[in-house]
Amino acid sequence: MNDARKVALVTGAAGAIGRSICRRLLDDGIEPIGIDIDSVGLSELEKLLGIKTICTDLDNLDGLPSALDAVGAVDILINNAGVLHGEKIIDQSLSDWDQTFRVNLDSALIISKIFLPGMIDRKWGRIINMSSYAAKCGGLTAGVAYTASKSAMIGLTFSVAREFAGHGVTANAIAPAYVMSPMVSEQLTPEERENQLQAIPVGRFCEPEEVAHTVSFLVSPLAGFITGEVIDMNGGLQFD
Ligand SMILES: NC(=O)c1ccc[n+]([C@@H]2O[C@H](COP(=O)([O-])OP(=O)(O)OC[C@H]3O[C@@H](n4cnc5c(N)ncnc54)[C@H](O)[C@@H]3O)[C@@H](O)[C@H]2O)c1
Repeated sequence: MNDARKVALVTGAAGAIGRSICRRLLDDGIEPIGIDIDSVGLSELEKLLGIKTICTDLDNLDGLPSALDAVGAVDILINNAGVLHGEKIIDQSLSDWDQTFRVNLDSALIISKIFLPGMIDRKWGRIINMSSYAAKCGGLTAGVAYTASKSAMIGLTFSVAREFAGHGVTANAIAPAYVMSPMVSEQLTPEERENQLQAIPVGRFCEPEEVAHTVSFLVSPLAGFITGEVIDMNGGLQFD
């Protein structure tokens, strides 16, 4: 690895976890570039951290290459953006299923395709895909589209890890459960929140900074031997 300042592209940067990741990477001496559809959240992030951001809709897959055209070399890609729907199988519409997959999974594939060649040329790269504990448990409160898209994120991670391990590029996934964010504070009913809080052995929800800490570890120079791994962050809900 050379000593030039690394650049990290972080999707879902205006969200709770994305913001924490940007802040932590900046503290680590890495230059984060934030991507989100939330222009207000991105402006706040720019003011707060003084970082570059790009406002774009990851649901518009065809528009992604031109939206990211101005971004130069990217050493670290954090595919973190996500949407959560609660529909279980019988109620799942195909249109919501497709939208969930486009944002949660397909955008990660497209963005990886754009930046992997540069990582391979430079013989160094880190890709982190945000999966979820839902992928491992079938979704406690999460719906089927979310759960299936987060399972597929693990398959994408394994595929990238296998194909590019010999090129200095690692790919890992993080599978958190119940991180304090609007996904927990707004999208769960008070009863669901209380039930999950009772069930989590650690006795609390995860903090976004804890997920950012795992990202920081996985992108660090000495983590180059870790690839194709799924890091669980579920407070003891499941051991494996
Ligand atoms: N919060 C949790 O409990 C939890 C648990 C497991 C996994 N995750 C995953 O972590 C990631 C971050 O979630 P979070 O908790 O910070 O939630 P969040 O809702 O705060 O952040 C998600 C971000 O993604 C952005 N986004 C959504 N659709 C987009 C689109 N079409 N184009 C561009 N940006 C879009 C949102 O604007 C938002 O800023 C997600 O992938 C989520 O599935 C979260």
